[in-house]
Amino acid sequence: MAEILEPTNYNITRCKEHLECSEVVAVPTETVYGLAANALDEVAVKKIFEIKKRPLIDPLIVHVHSSNQTHLYAELNILAKKLIKEYWPGPLTLVLKKKSKIPDLVTASLPSVAIRSPQHPTFRKLLKALSFPLAAPSANPFGYISPTQTMHVQHSLGENIRYILNGGYSKLGIESTIIDVQDENKPTILRPGPITRDVLEQKFNRTFFSHKETSGNSAIPAPGLLDNHYSPKKPLMLIEEKDLQNLLSKNEHSKLKNCAIILNKRPKKLKAENLFWLSENGDLNEISKNLYHTLRQVDESQYSILYIQEIEMIHLGVALMDRIRKAAN
Ligand code: TXA
Ligand code: MG
Repeated sequence: MAEILEPTNYNITRCKEHLECSEVVAVPTETVYGLAANALDEVAVKKIFEIKKRPLIDPLIVHVHSSNQTHLYAELNILAKKLIKEYWPGPLTLVLKKKSKIPDLVTASLPSVAIRSPQHPTFRKLLKALSFPLAAPSANPFGYISPTQTMHVQHSLGENIRYILNGGYSKLGIESTIIDVQDENKPTILRPGPITRDVLEQKFNRTFFSHKETSGNSAIPAPGLLDNHYSPKKPLMLIEEKDLQNLLSKNEHSKLKNCAIILNKRPKKLKAENLFWLSENGDLNEISKNLYHTLRQVDESQYSILYIQEIEMIHLGVALMDRIRKAAN
């Protein structure tokens, strides 16, 4: 089992020293927990892939403490600088042209690198103490649900890592937005996330393309393109809005005893043990914060089939449905 370390200065130093020995540490971020290692050290980075059982063709995100460090690892254009100014530190990852300091192992030999500066204060303290950036994918076995608290990491990777740095419950609950800004005229959202397309377009008064709109022109593999991503072990079915009432009435008649049903908000009247909900009133931020925890909870429950209600595709709903669709695949 891994040791869960409270975020004291002493423990942050222990993590730092461990990382300096080419080892990995699970770290809290505002999005999901990450499995971190020295991004400039191939021996260390290799351990991330091994522990996660992640294929080497899936590149990692490099985390920096300060935006000032970005130019060491990537080429910045004007749009990238503006996005950094607006959203860092925060849940925004930029795909930029890579510089040679970043080993090919990190980027799966792509000519680009994904970089972000995270917001979580404990992760920032650790990054500040280090003389190198940290490569960190989500701290889950490849293909499984991302972790939003230390117990999730302990459960699925605890046997294989020494330390999990405790940063509490991840406040956003889903992974960062990834934008490919290599072509300034065609910024492309490779993975929708907490910084939403509508907010970006309004702020910058321009189009941000979705990956679907630009794919075809790019050889870069899209993040999460692999079908079975963020998936529970049990079958997960999407409930369309039109089928919801029917399903709930079937449930009333105990025809779905075997199934867990995840709703967007607390049901007003219905009471049944197999009903779960992601928020009190349908608030998208609350749904986001609870999504992965609830998926893990039902995956470990006695129910053998899982249902989840679809979410309206507006604002953060786009990112949430992206994750849910992949989980339900
Ligand atoms: O919120 C997050 O981004 C979390 C926390 C830990 O920072 N990290 C995270 O990492 O979600 P990961 O490895 O689970 O997802 C990163 C995605 C992968 O799907 C990968 O394919 C994509 O980013 N990616 C990394 N480098 C890329 C690149 N150069 N071009 C295109 N996609 C890239
Ligand atoms: Mg991941």
